Amino acid sequence: MIQRCHSEDTHRSQIGMIQETSWQNRKFRDLAAITNHSSKAKRRLTTKKYKFSLKLLALAMTKDKVVLAFSGGLDTSVCVKYLQMEHNMDVITTTVDCGQDDDFDAIRRKSELLGAIKHVYVDSRTDFVENYVAKAIRANALYQGKYPLATALARPLIASRTMEVARKEGARYVSHGCTGKGNDQVRLDLALRAIDPKIRIIAPIRDMNLTRDIEIKYANEHNIPVNEETKRYSIDVNLWGRAIEGGQLEDPWFEVPDDALHLVKKAENSIEYIELEFEQGIPKSADGKKMNLVDLIAYLNDKVGRHGVGIIDHVEDRIVGIKSREIYEAPAATAIIEAHRDLEKMVLTNFEFRFKQTVEEEWSWLAYSGLWFDPLREDLDTFIDATQKRVTGKVRMKLQNGSLNVVGRKSEFSLYSKDLATYTSKSTFDQRLAKGFVELWGMQTVLANSLKTSDSRKEGEKIT
Ligand code: ARG
Repeated sequence: MIQRCHSEDTHRSQIGMIQETSWQNRKFRDLAAITNHSSKAKRRLTTKKYKFSLKLLALAMTKDKVVLAFSGGLDTSVCVKYLQMEHNMDVITTTVDCGQDDDFDAIRRKSELLGAIKHVYVDSRTDFVENYVAKAIRANALYQGKYPLATALARPLIASRTMEVARKEGARYVSHGCTGKGNDQVRLDLALRAIDPKIRIIAPIRDMNLTRDIEIKYANEHNIPVNEETKRYSIDVNLWGRAIEGGQLEDPWFEVPDDALHLVKKAENSIEYIELEFEQGIPKSADGKKMNLVDLIAYLNDKVGRHGVGIIDHVEDRIVGIKSREIYEAPAATAIIEAHRDLEKMVLTNFEFRFKQTVEEEWSWLAYSGLWFDPLREDLDTFIDATQKRVTGKVRMKLQNGSLNVVGRKSEFSLYSKDLATYTSKSTFDQRLAKGFVELWGMQTVLANSLKTSDSRKEGEKIT
């Protein structure tokens, strides 16, 4: 039996659940009564009534359908059983492929094994990179200056695809395996409700206040296979990055062990260069080869990761107020954002660049905190898109022993002028103009300081 950790809220949601279950039971009592009619009794029914009873019977036999966003991992596997056993529902599992490179056949088989009535696989890799990752690249999106938002960006997409399946299947319920402690519950719930405010959401792990150890026990009791890595860490992967949490990593002093890393390898003792070409803020080719964004990201994850670049280790503020220690592997994201920002510095005016940084921080916060569907995010995208018209050019980076550095950039829209910048006599910059400029530029600062000096002089006079 599943153990429940009671809190007031949990209790409340359980009452809701029980009501649902007893309604189901009533349906089944009615069904029993109808099936127990003797043939004599049946004859007594008029044909019309009989047909009506049959309809009622069919209705009573139909269980409610729920579409579960299913990764095949521990949480969502537990959810399948829970939805069947505690809610008496028919479960349809949906796996949205955002480039997590999983064994999708194995996930389908697991869904079957768990007794789902249907499994839907949705290949959303192109959608993910074109409509979510591309926006993040243009926004240089790094939450708290570090996290490229891989998990966060995939959630509104997973919600959209899950809702599509729910609509197609005529399901009034959707479900997800998020806990009540993380960000994903906020992202999925809000995205689902932004798409359909009437949708009923069941989040079993949150509702039951389940912890990972209890889930593993429950999985063992119900013959749900759990892999070894799942027992050690909580992992989420897509094309834009891999997040590793939990286990020993909950000690923020503990260094991430090599075996937890998949994308970032030990640095090779060699030097390699990467050349990225951007068109209007989007990388279009790598090392001279034109590639679509899905392939380009996969190419960089491999190449940059091989040089030991792309580990992010920081303490992050979750939406729910918890500080959590997070490890990310994001080689492609690290290289692309580094290159993109570098190119922007060359083609945007100082004023554009400075203001965009504020917008970027706000954009990253919205994407992180589950407000992807807030109109403000689109408003910010309108601004960001406008700045990208000139973000076209090439950036060259050097990979060496675990480091990545931009070593060259060029663009037809460059605002860098060698004629102005040069220290040689070829310079077209008239230095004499600077004298007046400096005078005016710092006028108020100089004035404020001279007042401060006279104030402190007065203070000094008083003391003596
Ligand atoms: N903290 C990150 C976020 O909220 C990553 C979460 C990853 N989830 C996981 N199960 N490891 O976006």
